[in-house]
Amino acid sequence: MSFFKDKTAIVTGATSGMGRGIAEALNAESANLILSGRDQERGRQLEGRLGPGARFIPGDIKQPQANEALVLAAVEHFGRLDMLVLSAGQLGIGKLHTLSLDDWHDTIATNLNAVFYLLKYAIPEMQKTGGGSILIIGSVAAFHAFPNHPAYAASKGALPALVRQLARDYGPKIRINLLSPAQVATPLILDSVRAFDNPDEILDETARKLPMKRLGLPQDIAQTALHLLGDQASWITGSNFVVDGGFLAT
Ligand SMILES: NC(=O)c1ccc[n+]([C@@H]2O[C@H](COP(=O)([O-])OP(=O)(O)OC[C@H]3O[C@@H](n4cnc5c(N)ncnc54)[C@H](O)[C@@H]3O)[C@@H](O)[C@H]2O)c1
Repeated sequence: MSFFKDKTAIVTGATSGMGRGIAEALNAESANLILSGRDQERGRQLEGRLGPGARFIPGDIKQPQANEALVLAAVEHFGRLDMLVLSAGQLGIGKLHTLSLDDWHDTIATNLNAVFYLLKYAIPEMQKTGGGSILIIGSVAAFHAFPNHPAYAASKGALPALVRQLARDYGPKIRINLLSPAQVATPLILDSVRAFDNPDEILDETARKLPMKRLGLPQDIAQTALHLLGDQASWITGSNFVVDGGFLAT
């Protein structure tokens, strides 16, 4: 029987990209899911496709109450909370002096403050059921400077320190790890290159530069996510897992 059966996970950013890939993989392993996202139509479609073990709870995770609502929904619908996958994120591109105050705050609010909110509400609930496992989706931008990503780099750069801190403070009952991808073919990156005249060339060149010669796919991320959330990783906490097609190696 799957380790994930009868366990409940909250997945943020669940209606798109890596969050959706991880939600689908958890669903295939019979986990119950609270799917978080802003797009009602995509959320309802995904909920319908995944079946009775999945509930979509719409909301903007920049609001603390939206995160509290996810935790309450896990308890109301499935009676317990065992896992968190924090995948929602946004870019926020521009040289620092050109960024508006709103752009800066918005990126930090989504990529960092919302992580704090969900963990704050979820950890006490996970402690009630004996503990659990948390996975935050970071970025190689925490370790490598891409051009003109100051707010993104700062927000993702805080996550390795936060994960180490929480591993120390909440072990052994709660494990927490960071998964840091490089370029994965999701709307986050595909939409951002559309602003240029030659998006296909940019994507081809990005793939060519990677030792693995292709962009990542949500499934590449989902397999590592399942491993880190499951009991095979029972001695792994406070760690950062780079899943990047070799990007940082170059
Ligand atoms: N795609 C990449 O190349 C790449 C590389 C490194 C890290 N990441 C990180 O991976 C994570 C997943 O991104 P993705 O590539 O799957 O992108 P994506 O755009 O497909 O998915 C991100 C989801 O987060 C949601 N979201 C953003 N802000 C939100 C908010 N305030 N409230 C609720 N939902 C919100 C978006 O609507 C979207 O559905 C992000 O944290 C991103 O920073 C992505």
